[in-house]
Amino acid sequence: MATDIDSELGWLRALVEQIRDHAIFMIGPDGRNRTWNEGVHRVLGYTQAEFLGQHASELFTPEDRAAGVPERELAFAAEHGSASDERWLVRKDKTRFWASGMTTRIDDARGDLMGFAKIFRDLTVERQFQDALRGSEERYRLATRAAHEAIWDRDLNTSTIQWSDNFEQLFGYPPDEVGLEVVWWEERIHPEDRVRVTEGLRMAVETGEPRWEADYRFRHRSGRSAMVEDRAYIMRSTDGTPLRMLGAMAEVTERRRTEDALRHAQRLEALGRLAGGVAHELNNMLTTIMGNTEYLDKNLPSGDERRQFTRSVLYAAERSAKLTRQLLAFARRQMTQPVQLDMNSLVRELEPILQPLLGDTIALNLRLAPQLGPVMVDRTQVEQIVVNLLLNARDAMPEGGRVTIESQPARFDNSTQGDHPAPIEPGDYVLLTVSDTGIGMDASTLERAFEPFFTTKPVGQGTGLGLAAVYGAVKQQGGYVWAYSEPGHGTVIKVYLRQGQPASSSLLP
Ligand SMILES: Nc1ncnc2c1ncn2[C@@H]1O[C@H](COP(=O)(O)OP(=O)(O)OP(=O)(O)O)[C@@H](O)[C@H]1O
Ligand SMILES: [Mg+2]
Repeated sequence: MATDIDSELGWLRALVEQIRDHAIFMIGPDGRNRTWNEGVHRVLGYTQAEFLGQHASELFTPEDRAAGVPERELAFAAEHGSASDERWLVRKDKTRFWASGMTTRIDDARGDLMGFAKIFRDLTVERQFQDALRGSEERYRLATRAAHEAIWDRDLNTSTIQWSDNFEQLFGYPPDEVGLEVVWWEERIHPEDRVRVTEGLRMAVETGEPRWEADYRFRHRSGRSAMVEDRAYIMRSTDGTPLRMLGAMAEVTERRRTEDALRHAQRLEALGRLAGGVAHELNNMLTTIMGNTEYLDKNLPSGDERRQFTRSVLYAAERSAKLTRQLLAFARRQMTQPVQLDMNSLVRELEPILQPLLGDTIALNLRLAPQLGPVMVDRTQVEQIVVNLLLNARDAMPEGGRVTIESQPARFDNSTQGDHPAPIEPGDYVLLTVSDTGIGMDASTLERAFEPFFTTKPVGQGTGLGLAAVYGAVKQQGGYVWAYSEPGHGTVIKVYLRQGQPASSSLLP
């Protein structure tokens, strides 16, 4: 029996002595080290000879020693049975390390204090690792906060999503409103895009794609629809099982709007070149037709019945000429003579011919700004702009209504751009607004309204060149024109014309 206990003690002793990554030793009631193990050497650097008999408080930092920490720790362990702590300790070579340790009171068979067992471990590496982790997490958080993309991490097993901190800043949802479940995100996708997006994602995951991406509309907390680009990587285990998706979702509403505006402008540009060429040729031919017909007409004896033929040719030629004028305006190929003009006086001068165009059921309001800079424009072109806009307003109000022509100065620089569909060149402008209380336009009409030959009017009533001509004339002047409308809520056309002084040459006598 005794041999058994002896050998058991021998085993235990061997075990303790051989443990290398924990310093394990006994301290006597006097606070001096009584035993040593391999761990003491590895963690603290002391040989057995150096360590035995040394005061255990040597392991504490001078600050802790001065503050009485070693004594307090022993007193605590003596009273409560044990004390555990994490703190800086000092090795033999005076370097410090972060230690996690425990001090346990050991009693003899009679229950009297025999000493303390101390066991501790060097946590420096773990601590450095944790610090580094905390640091990189912090950097990651800061980086995502500055980014224009919300970063998300989706667990494909639990169907939950974690969003980066900037999600609130980008899409308005405070953290406590963000649901962790995938459905929370799905519910905020525009209903028309939802199936396409969720099915596309499911397919990408199932077919083993490494990536997934989709463009869709996502509901901002304010209720508005944000156009987003969402891109993600799909992470799989070595056997291909999908585990997680790591994605970035960015709002691109602004960019899309600018791109759309650009595409729109480019389309009109291309149409303009085509229309311009045709109109130019037509115009030349019309000049010949009209010249010769007028000659014939003049030379027919009065009362000649053939005159009705020359007259009808002239009438048709006249209408064609008007059409080519609109086309040339759209193509920016009108001959222009810009002069310095005050828009207010021009509108007032036009008023007597505008009211009859509108008829009795439509009221004309003028709201002219008292202070307005001069614009350099071709008078005929501005008249063409105003008349075309007024005719459209009239046609939109068969039951009557009100047209308002408003003028006001506008200044843009790089920082103040207003909420236009496209950026505006910095400078001073005169804004001419023509608004009506008519039927308005739906989105698809609005989209194409400035295209030549686009009309919603019955055959014979509209050629679809009015707004095209306005567009060309405004562009030729270096200005901008935009239409705002909703079905049933009238239409607002905003024309920005560049303010300007006459070129220096025209100042000469
Ligand atoms: N003020 C407005 N209210 C409602 N719809 C408008 C208005 N202005 C233009 N539109 C829409 O835009 C289309 C194109 O207008 P545009 O002036 O270019 O051609 P049109 O008026 O149809 O024909 P045209 O001016 O050549 O006689 C119109 O057919 C109409 O559908
Ligand atoms: Mg028109």
